[in-house]
Amino acid sequence: KRHLISTADLTRDDALLILDTAEEMAQVSTRAVKKLPTLRGRTVVNLFFEDSTRTRTSFEVAEKRLSADVVNFSAKGSSVSKGETLKDTALTLQAMGADAVVIRHGASGAPQRLAESDWLHGSVVNAGDGTHEHPTQALLDAFTMRRHLNPGLGRDLAGRRITIVGDVLHSRVARSNVRLLHTLGAEVTLVAPPTLVPYGVESWPCAVSYDLDAVLPKSDAVMMLRVQRERMNAAFFPTQREYSLRYGLDAKRAAALPDHAIVMHPGPMVRGMEIASEIADSARSTIVEQVANGVSIRMAVLYLLLGGSEPALSPARPSPA
Ligand code: CP
Repeated sequence: KRHLISTADLTRDDALLILDTAEEMAQVSTRAVKKLPTLRGRTVVNLFFEDSTRTRTSFEVAEKRLSADVVNFSAKGSSVSKGETLKDTALTLQAMGADAVVIRHGASGAPQRLAESDWLHGSVVNAGDGTHEHPTQALLDAFTMRRHLNPGLGRDLAGRRITIVGDVLHSRVARSNVRLLHTLGAEVTLVAPPTLVPYGVESWPCAVSYDLDAVLPKSDAVMMLRVQRERMNAAFFPTQREYSLRYGLDAKRAAALPDHAIVMHPGPMVRGMEIASEIADSARSTIVEQVANGVSIRMAVLYLLLGGSEPALSPARPSPA
């Protein structure tokens, strides 16, 4: 049984294997015939309890490029709205012969629960759980950074300085990135308003700053995060003006970045809040490229989990609290 739940489960060799395999998958994506027969006859279910544009569609494209049979399940319009539990949903999918389940869920730990259960026998891939983890997002981000900052198969991001800015408190993208980037040797700095820094961040393998202007000139990549209003009490919403003044990336701030530095955002973005439109659409922005790279990463993950006869990744370990 093999799963991808957390970037904490990946060794450096695991991560490099996924990144290198994704480079090969990117070659497939440029061919006239984009399909590989690897997952022919396998059924992959995309089980989404939370909204998604990028992750859901890119998993579907990846699955189809590997010739899998794809089933898209959305909680909206399903029997979940009648009170059906995760267990009964999983048992139903198992009865229909799911070989893998890609799950996005609002509850942190839901994919881990599924992976540890005997409700499903197939692989579980975490497509984002609550504020916990979004491992394929971090992998596609590392893939994008590696292409721009340290090209070459088999190479990590040793010494590269990555700044992650914004609502870290609610960000599964930030958590997955901090763990993976640390494993790949990068130096990560989080910049956030004090109210959006998670409790216990001192134990994370990264630095924390409250001064974006001081950190930008020392950054090889800056990753802007969305303020996740849907996970906040309305009383704590920062106003757009006060937030963007201190933590938004506008043209004046971006000018302080080194010439080679890239600007990233996992999406969805709120233009004018955490990032100005002219920067999101600028030459140094990799936002659209990140989406394209997501297909290659998800092809690589599914190929490595389901495609070979032997386990290619280390067995999943329980995620740290
Ligand atoms: N980055 C990301 O997870 O986007 P979606 O919520 O659109 O999938």
